[in-house]
Amino acid sequence: MKRPVVYVGMSADLIHPGHINILRRAEEIGDIMIGLLTDTAIASYKRLPHMTFEQRRAVVENLKGVVAVVPQRTLDYTENLRAIRPEFVVHGDDWCTGVQRQTRQRVIDVLAEWGGQLVEVEYTPGISSTQLNRSLREIGTTPSLRLSRLRRLLESKDIVRILEAHNGLAGLVIENSTVEVGHRPREFDGMWSSSLTDSIARGKPDTEAVDVSSRLLTVNEIFEVTTKPLVFDADTGGRPEHFGFTVRSLERLGVSAVIVEDKEGLKRNSLLGTAVPQVQSSVEDFCERIRTGKRAQITDDFMVIARIESLILDKGLDDAVRRAEAYMDAGADGIMIHSRRSDPSDVFEFCKHFDKLARRVPLVVVPTSYSSVREAELVDAGVNMVIYANHLMRAVYPQMSRVAQSILRHGRAHEAEPTLASIGEILSVIPENVA
Ligand code: SPV
Ligand code: MG
Repeated sequence: MKRPVVYVGMSADLIHPGHINILRRAEEIGDIMIGLLTDTAIASYKRLPHMTFEQRRAVVENLKGVVAVVPQRTLDYTENLRAIRPEFVVHGDDWCTGVQRQTRQRVIDVLAEWGGQLVEVEYTPGISSTQLNRSLREIGTTPSLRLSRLRRLLESKDIVRILEAHNGLAGLVIENSTVEVGHRPREFDGMWSSSLTDSIARGKPDTEAVDVSSRLLTVNEIFEVTTKPLVFDADTGGRPEHFGFTVRSLERLGVSAVIVEDKEGLKRNSLLGTAVPQVQSSVEDFCERIRTGKRAQITDDFMVIARIESLILDKGLDDAVRRAEAYMDAGADGIMIHSRRSDPSDVFEFCKHFDKLARRVPLVVVPTSYSSVREAELVDAGVNMVIYANHLMRAVYPQMSRVAQSILRHGRAHEAEPTLASIGEILSVIPENVA
């Protein structure tokens, strides 16, 4: 006799005894069909899974009692349930409250359309994926895992959110900061190694005065204590003949992408615009730089992102769009459009034209001067990555200056104390200090 179909939705990133418990119950009832959540479905409410969809599929396919695995592309079960019309859905009973409550109700309602039934299995206490995730983070990551994560994020998220890190501590802040928005955790997806803030951290100007080896030291320090992917600001790429070596070094460390800008000579910070002499490269020369980078990379995952400075240098929208096309033809894996205006209108105008081009790669923006723009507006405009390029450095500098002045003024540190982290607080930033 044909056994009933039992649908079980899962992420299956970290399989633990709680999952096995659910599967055993499902197996008693019938043939298990796993609705395996895609990366996009998971990333819509929490961190991207450690394993790719294909890796997770390989695991669940081989679990006892599983006869089929189908992708579940949204958190909501409705589409798959209507297509499959299973006799049963089995789920842990931990979804009766909180954000998942509505999902549960919809499952019940949809099953009712053909007399299907929801079976709930008692939640297995003492095991939490969050805890397992924390342990995994302590184990760390590998260069290749970290490197490949950025492309996965770009494929799975509306917008990839990146914040500047100039040392290990800033990296840790990015690694660990989360907030709840509408019952969902929100965090940064990765880090930006900014030429501006890495230079300022060393008391040097943002003119490629800090050599690549020193920049890589910072990245290495950040990588020692974090697991999130990093995008590297390579300025102009240095001497064209050297850019390939930089790409190799970045890739070896596990950096996911390099952003190289279409300027040459003594490079100055973009936000200074035309107030200082800055020279934009010819399209031909810059395309050759992109090709040099692409030829040098070893993995398929590493990204060379071309940064267009036309709006910074008042060369106009047409020039920016023309360059975007040429840079993509030269092999750029992404385009960054930069602007120094206080409103995003020129960036949005670029987005409109960019969207109409025959080919399309991920689009990156850096809303430093137009900081009032919301991520939701960027998503609507078709932006795929937002980089908050200097904010942690801009956060610490004023406070350091104020405290230095306060100590000088008062001849003691007491007055500055209320504005400082306590020693206990600062020690506990690094768990090993207080363990
Ligand atoms: C950086 O962060 O170093 C950048 C972005 O390149 S900007 O400072 O706006 O040029
Ligand atoms: Mg820079």
